[in-house]
Amino acid sequence: MELVLDDGCRIYKSYPEDWKKIKERIIEIDEKAFEKRYRDTEKSMERIFTDSENLNLIAYARDKLCGYSIGGSMKKFKDRSKKPWIYPSLEGIDDSDVFYIYGTGIDPKFQGNGIGTKLKKVQIDLVKSMGYKAMTSHALNDIIKHIEGKFGFKEKGYIEKEGTYMVLIFNDENDNK
Ligand SMILES: CC(C)(COP(=O)(O)OP(=O)(O)OC[C@H]1O[C@@H](n2cnc3c(N)ncnc32)[C@H](O)[C@@H]1OP(=O)(O)O)[C@@H](O)C(=O)NCCC(=O)NCCS
Repeated sequence: MELVLDDGCRIYKSYPEDWKKIKERIIEIDEKAFEKRYRDTEKSMERIFTDSENLNLIAYARDKLCGYSIGGSMKKFKDRSKKPWIYPSLEGIDDSDVFYIYGTGIDPKFQGNGIGTKLKKVQIDLVKSMGYKAMTSHALNDIIKHIEGKFGFKEKGYIEKEGTYMVLIFNDENDNK
């Protein structure tokens, strides 16, 4: 784990070797934060948290692991998916230069305190510093749309059963306003 923000809550980069220590709590947060149909299997969470190419962030508040935001190369997610069409490519940008936000979840007891917003800010800064050219996500509700919207994400259509396709292109004057 590597501390990347200490500001009311602490945000860490989680590394593959951390998975064993955090998995029970991550699965618990996933269960509490998401409706059943959107919950993940432990196996797919494990695959994401143990992939060293991904950027997986975890947040602690009052010394309790309370949330996460995870993702990685959109190309990889698309290549592995049985539904590649849910990851539309961005014009002029290679899928491998796009960071896909696979999931963000905060334990309901900790929601509404700015932790999701801080996670998003740190995520965007790190993703940019890693050299990605854009970020995408599927937003399931108005709260995450609001948060991503504040950082310049634009809504680019609705994808059945997945949510609103959100896109942030770095250094694109038209897109980031
Ligand atoms: C979405 C989620 C990650 C946000 O995390 P959080 O720590 O609760 O969010 P924050 O406290 O940082 O920010 C919440 C923001 O949403 C706003 N908000 C609250 N209810 C809202 C609504 N119904 N519509 C629009 N915005 C809303 C708040 O005003 C706040 O914005 P502000 O800081 O500009 O005032 C968290 O609520 C969560 O885990 N939800 C369940 C799982 C989920 O939906 N994940 C995202 C899937 S794509």
